[in-house]
Amino acid sequence: ETVTWEADAAEKGGYEHYMRKEIHEQPSALRQTLAGRLDVDGGDVDLDVSFPPGFLADLEEIRIVACGTSYYAGRYAAQLFEELAGVRATVEIASEYEFGAGRTPDRTLVVAVTQSGETADTLGAIRRANAAGARTFAVTNTLGSTVTREVDGTAFIRAGPEIGVAATKTFASQVATLAMLAVAVGRDRGALSAADARSVLKDLQGLPGAVQQVLDEENQVREAAREYQDSEAFFFVGRALGVPVALEGALKLKEISYDHAEGFAAGELKHGPLALVTPDTPVLAVLTEGARADETMNNVTEAQTRGAPALGCVSAGEEYDTLDVSFDVPDVGIVEPLAANVYLQLFAYHVANEKGRAIDKPRNLAKSVTVE
Ligand code: G6P
Repeated sequence: ETVTWEADAAEKGGYEHYMRKEIHEQPSALRQTLAGRLDVDGGDVDLDVSFPPGFLADLEEIRIVACGTSYYAGRYAAQLFEELAGVRATVEIASEYEFGAGRTPDRTLVVAVTQSGETADTLGAIRRANAAGARTFAVTNTLGSTVTREVDGTAFIRAGPEIGVAATKTFASQVATLAMLAVAVGRDRGALSAADARSVLKDLQGLPGAVQQVLDEENQVREAAREYQDSEAFFFVGRALGVPVALEGALKLKEISYDHAEGFAAGELKHGPLALVTPDTPVLAVLTEGARADETMNNVTEAQTRGAPALGCVSAGEEYDTLDVSFDVPDVGIVEPLAANVYLQLFAYHVANEKGRAIDKPRNLAKSVTVE
């Protein structure tokens, strides 16, 4: 017993939970994800993936299939594919995916995003895509995983092993890998200039350092978690690239704290969820670049008018005076919402930790779900 415990403690490298260790590993995980793959001067990436001649030029649609946190990484990436690669991109919950009518299999790339590479729902979606005749691709953390044997091509996120059931570092590395794929596809299709690619690659290059700066503010997040932990519910909002981050922030909190948490596109607050807002339901907002911060703040103000406390992740240099808590997000352009996400991970962690939850193994959940 004792030996097991010591081995376990050693593995956690001095952290009380794998989750907090993995949150803190994000700068180094991201450096691994990006290592040797960015050609900043040339405005291109080297992901070591190849497609048949003409396939990318004729591409009509990228369809991303995934579950849980990987689905939210897909929601982030779809926006990047549209913006950087100039191709229609859709995201589907893997268990709901069908090829569907009105689509052209040989002009479709179906991308599975799966940390483990073993999620049954995602494998099922890939098998349906293969059966329909689409080209398939996987973005995964796991060498030799089942998904890699079922797809035409794979990009590894290289985040290192993730033990905590709640995905953290793999989310950041998935989005970073998908961003590189979007640049590669955009350059190949002639949809992205070298200069525009360079600016995205610089943002990516700055991400590990930006995440470290967020991690350095952990005490501020711990204090906020202590102040708001007993709230009745928590609402997370954002727009554009802030939406998947809001959804992921809510998922993280509900998974490990068991508190009621929901994420919304900020504009939807007034179409229903506002009925739930009270002084006992803090609103956490993504107010960064790429997330239409001013418009989001207008929606936050609507919630504040109903008495809700408001916490925001705000781009460095910007200021929203009415926020109850403001977390500074370093300027990293298109990946700024990813840096903001690290505040939400820490918030979820500290709320759950204050409550003494089983953070690394939340009730009813599994790291990898191998049944449909
Ligand atoms: C499980 C885990 C989640 C994860 C999801 C998808 O539900 O608890 O953390 O996001 O599976 O896993 P995958 O390995 O496919 O990314």
